Amino acid sequence: MDGAVGRTGPLTNNSESHPTAPAGNDFLPGPVLLLGAPGVGKGTQAQLLVTRYGIPQISTGDLLRGNIARGTELGRKAKEIMSAGLLVDDEIVNQMVLSRLHEKDVHRGYILDGYPRTLDQAKFLDRTIADPSFLPRLPVIAISIVVAYDQLLKRITGRRICPACKSIYNIYSNPPKVAGVCDLDGAALTQRGDDTEPVFIERMKTFDAQTAPVVAHYRDQGRFEEADGDQSVEVVNAAVEQAIVKLRRASR
Ligand code: AP5
Repeated sequence: MDGAVGRTGPLTNNSESHPTAPAGNDFLPGPVLLLGAPGVGKGTQAQLLVTRYGIPQISTGDLLRGNIARGTELGRKAKEIMSAGLLVDDEIVNQMVLSRLHEKDVHRGYILDGYPRTLDQAKFLDRTIADPSFLPRLPVIAISIVVAYDQLLKRITGRRICPACKSIYNIYSNPPKVAGVCDLDGAALTQRGDDTEPVFIERMKTFDAQTAPVVAHYRDQGRFEEADGDQSVEVVNAAVEQAIVKLRRASR
C-alpha cells in the first residue's frame, strides 16, 4: 500500500535547527540511525521523531542541498554528484557530520537520516561515537525501513517540498490542500532535481552497491530492527517508535 492513510498536514524538516524536548519526556533516545533506500520515508519519519523526542534530525542530503543553495565550494562539488545519483566523497560527508555532532543540541540524542551510506562512513561514525567526548555516551541503534521498489518510484517522482519550511508532500499520498502550494506558509512547492525516474534508477543502484552493506553491518552488530515502510505514515511511525524504545532499553 502506498498511502499516508489518515495523516493530514505536512511534515517539516529541521536538520539545522535546535528543537526543545517536550515537557515530561524523560526517555533518552540517544543516537538513532534511519536506514533505507531512496524514498522509504526516512525524512518523513525523522520529522515525526523530532517532534516526539525533541532531538534534532541530521540529514546529510539536506546539509548538502543547503550548501548547494548557498553556493558554497562544497555545494558546487556535490551538485553534479547528486544529480547523477552517486555518493559525495566519504571524507566530505564525514567532516560535515562530525562538525554537526559537536553542536550542543545533540546531548539527548539525534536522528541520522541518510548517513552512514558506505561502510567507511559507518566505521567512521562508530569510532566517533565511541569517543567519550561525544554526547550522549550511548551506542547507536539502527532502524531499517523497507518498501517495495515500484512504490519507491512513485514516492520519489510524486514528492514535493516546501522550500521555506521544508514540509514534505506527495502528490499521490499526501497532497497539499491547494495543488503546488504549501499548507503552512503558502510558498510554491518545488521538486528535487534528483527526483526523476532516470536518477532514481541510479540512486537505487548506488544504494544496492554501497549502502546495503551498511544495513548488514548494523544488523550484524545487533541493536537493529527492520520496519515495514509500506504502510501509512502513522503505522510506520508507531513501529519505528516501538523499535527505538525496545532497542534503547536493551542497549543500556
Ligand atoms: P538524500 O536526501 O538522503 O536522499 P535519499 O536517501 O535518496 O532519501 P530521500 O530523501 O529521497 O527519501 P526519504 O527516505 O527521506 O523519503 P521521504 O520521507 O522524503 O540524499 C540525496 C543525495 O545526497 C544522495 O543521492 C547523495 O548523492 C547525497 N548524499 C546524501 N547523504 C550522503 C552520504 N551520507 N554520503 C554520500 N552522499 C550522500 O519520503 C519520500 C516520499 O514518500 C514523500 O513524498 C513522502 O510524502 C512519501 N511518503 C513517506 N512515507 C510514506 C508512507 N508511509 N506512505 C506513503 N507515502 C509516504
